[in-house]
Amino acid sequence: MTDQTVSMKMPGGDHDYPVLEGTVGPEVVDIRKLYPQTGMFTYDPGFTSTASCESAITYIDGEKGILLHRGYPIDQLAEQSSFMEVAYLLLQGELPTAAELDHFTYTISRHTMVHEQLATFFRGFRRDAHPMAIMCGVVGALSAFYHDSTDITDPEQRMIASHRLIAKMPTLVAMAFKYSLGQPFMYPLNSLSYTGNFLRMTFGVPAEPYEVNPIVENAMRRIFILHADHEQNASTSTVRLAGSSGANPFACIAAGIACLWGPAHGGANEAALNMLREIGDVKRIPEYIARAKDKDDPFRLMGFGHRVYKNFDPRAKVMKATADEVLKELNISDPVLDVAKELEQIALNDDYFIEKKLYPNVDFYSGVILNAIGFPTDMFTALFALARTVGWVAQWNEMIADPEQKIGRPRQLYTGHTQRDYVPVDQR
Ligand code: SDX
Repeated sequence: MTDQTVSMKMPGGDHDYPVLEGTVGPEVVDIRKLYPQTGMFTYDPGFTSTASCESAITYIDGEKGILLHRGYPIDQLAEQSSFMEVAYLLLQGELPTAAELDHFTYTISRHTMVHEQLATFFRGFRRDAHPMAIMCGVVGALSAFYHDSTDITDPEQRMIASHRLIAKMPTLVAMAFKYSLGQPFMYPLNSLSYTGNFLRMTFGVPAEPYEVNPIVENAMRRIFILHADHEQNASTSTVRLAGSSGANPFACIAAGIACLWGPAHGGANEAALNMLREIGDVKRIPEYIARAKDKDDPFRLMGFGHRVYKNFDPRAKVMKATADEVLKELNISDPVLDVAKELEQIALNDDYFIEKKLYPNVDFYSGVILNAIGFPTDMFTALFALARTVGWVAQWNEMIADPEQKIGRPRQLYTGHTQRDYVPVDQR
């Protein structure tokens, strides 16, 4: 709380509202009393100027391209940390000691298998089902298997459910991939790292041993860390809103997965690679730039632009460097990467993109790396969901523990009919 207030001159008189400040970032005007005092709502479609909650997990400065997880810069974490360590940091608020990290990693490894009956759930899907359609279904279905960790009032159950979700997402995502191929599911092998375990479940087969490629493992580690959490984005806000009703954590994460699927959000990584492939040649870039600028054309440059970053997305910088490294180390040359780099250069020097502050976001380069590793494009958003589950779970726990949180229930500006009487059908 500051000693500042904001005065609003209203028809019925003036009202002062307190200004609250965080440790860093924009101050907020606390308008919780606006409606009871004035009978008026604020209006903010898309919540561009609205803080929905108080949080200590992730801080973003869109102008400076800063992304901090519990105060630690994303580029340092991507370079030096592990995904299990970042998961611990997001959940607990501090970097773990070696002993704490070992215990956390062991705890997660105790939950990597899924109930054997869940495997039959997959068989209900067509083989060509989109992996995100499968993930929406099977993650929500976890509620039916783990009744011992759905009581959200019990901190112990909340933590077990959190561990289960973090541990089982790689297993479920790998199962969705195997199912699409008609290959048998691979069981987890807990002697591997979290990322190595996922790679083996995805690309390994029971018929032969699977060697985790350290280059690929390191790339996936970075990609998972870069996608782990991102403040109050659409899918995190969905998880919080679902959780505010008291819904169980598995249902809340399933809601987040559904929201992430959209091409304006997590679905952009799939859409971005498809777009780059459609462009196909640097000579065709001007045609697509023109389409992106054409008001009458719904086409947008996928992987470009961001609600918060108006300078650059720090994750995109790390992703671009990783794309270069991985393709070189795997000795892969992909013309799509050349198209991506040329498109970025052209767009960043074009007045339209400069004026609208549109830069590559986390989704612009990720697809090039995932494609090089061997994932089909329809798996990209499922990988995003796998990584973002640690952020969703951390934000969900913070929301449940927040004494100020209550069921989320926004209002509206009503522009429909005023009251009118029913007309029987023979008089219409
Ligand atoms: C993610 O919120 C998060 O933190 C999300 C995320 C996370 O980690 O959780 O970072 C992950 O979702 C990244 C964003 C992935 N989406 C895309 O790459 C899809 C393409 N980008 C756009 O759809 C758009 O940029 C958004 C959705 C990302 C942001 O949209 P905003 O903030 O609502 O901005 P806007 O749609 O109002 O655009 C502002 C202007 C508009 O022009 P005008 O109406 O003012 O004339 O910029 C234009 C838009 O038409 N514009 C684009 C564009 N993005 C915005 N024009 C061409 N190509 C684009 N990509």
